Amino acid sequence: MNFNITLLPGDGIGPEVVTEAVRVLEIIASKYNHAFAFAERLMGGCSIDKFGSSLTDETLADCKSADAVLLGAVGGPKWDDPAAKDRPERGLLALRKGLGVFANLRPVKVHPALIDSSPLKPEKLEGVDILVVRELTGGLYFGWPKGRDFKDGRERAVDTLEYYDYEVKRVMELAFTLAKGRKKKVTSVDKANVLESSRLWRQIATKIGKENPDVELEHMLVDTASMRLITGPAWMDVVVTENMFGDILTDEASVLAGSMGMLPSASLSESASGLYEPIHGSAPDIAGKGIANPIGTILSAAMMLRHSFKLEVEAASIENAVDATITAGCRTADLGGPLSTRQMTDEIISRM
Ligand code: IPM
Ligand code: MG
Repeated sequence: MNFNITLLPGDGIGPEVVTEAVRVLEIIASKYNHAFAFAERLMGGCSIDKFGSSLTDETLADCKSADAVLLGAVGGPKWDDPAAKDRPERGLLALRKGLGVFANLRPVKVHPALIDSSPLKPEKLEGVDILVVRELTGGLYFGWPKGRDFKDGRERAVDTLEYYDYEVKRVMELAFTLAKGRKKKVTSVDKANVLESSRLWRQIATKIGKENPDVELEHMLVDTASMRLITGPAWMDVVVTENMFGDILTDEASVLAGSMGMLPSASLSESASGLYEPIHGSAPDIAGKGIANPIGTILSAAMMLRHSFKLEVEAASIENAVDATITAGCRTADLGGPLSTRQMTDEIISRM
């Protein structure tokens, strides 16, 4: 089969890890007789430097017409000026919105060989296999009004937490569908004791829960959920939550896996195409050193094969090779090991 993939390597370690994921995809193409055509574009800080915009209309159009988009990371100290009119992160948010990728899937699994890499007690980590479904195109990130002004002689800043019923419904339905292929349990995380948007969230979750009696639904307040992720993560299966809560909880959950460098994500829309990116950032402190962990991006490429191209066997072959590589003791610096980004990928490729 033929697929067009737009690559957005971005900033910092982004280009280093995307290069390695492309090598893995090329092995898949030759082993399983597929053709992947890659088109590389700038997005984030590098795009501000070249075009004066973190995401140009042309790049967004190329991403929309591709079969899938693979992204590295964006951002860095160079573009951190709070007064700047554009920021790398704005490009990422405009891309998510422009592609309509409303659901961000962030699987968090603990590889048995990495249990000691997490600061948590080993017995807490056994059997952890969570799928966080983060709403990605609504909430505080996009609500209007937003901005700064002066009111009653005071400087003021406003962000708006807004959700429409259909935005909650579509991500909730996806969470229930995904739960059916897993342990049939959904934890819907909100702050319904305080926020009106959360009361709408909970109302819709309850309704969809009633329509899917084979799936167990539990509501959990976000503060409780943040504690539960550390005290009893093995009890969680699918966790569905709004944009900002999902951003925070997934960084917390990454601690379970031993390193943020391990975790992939898939951002899905109503269409087959999607946006695939590791959950880690651009890591400016190690950029250019060739020591970043490529696994989050390589596993994101596997998710692309599964969700956008329906190539389950190929996706599993990458995941199995990553598992075997970790089992064999191969480690990059984030996991306390000596391997470079390239060497880690070579180890994975040798097991595919
Ligand atoms: C993430 C990141 C982004 C987010 C930033 C870079 C805008 O933290 O993907 O989790 O907040 O969504
Ligand atoms: Mg984040």
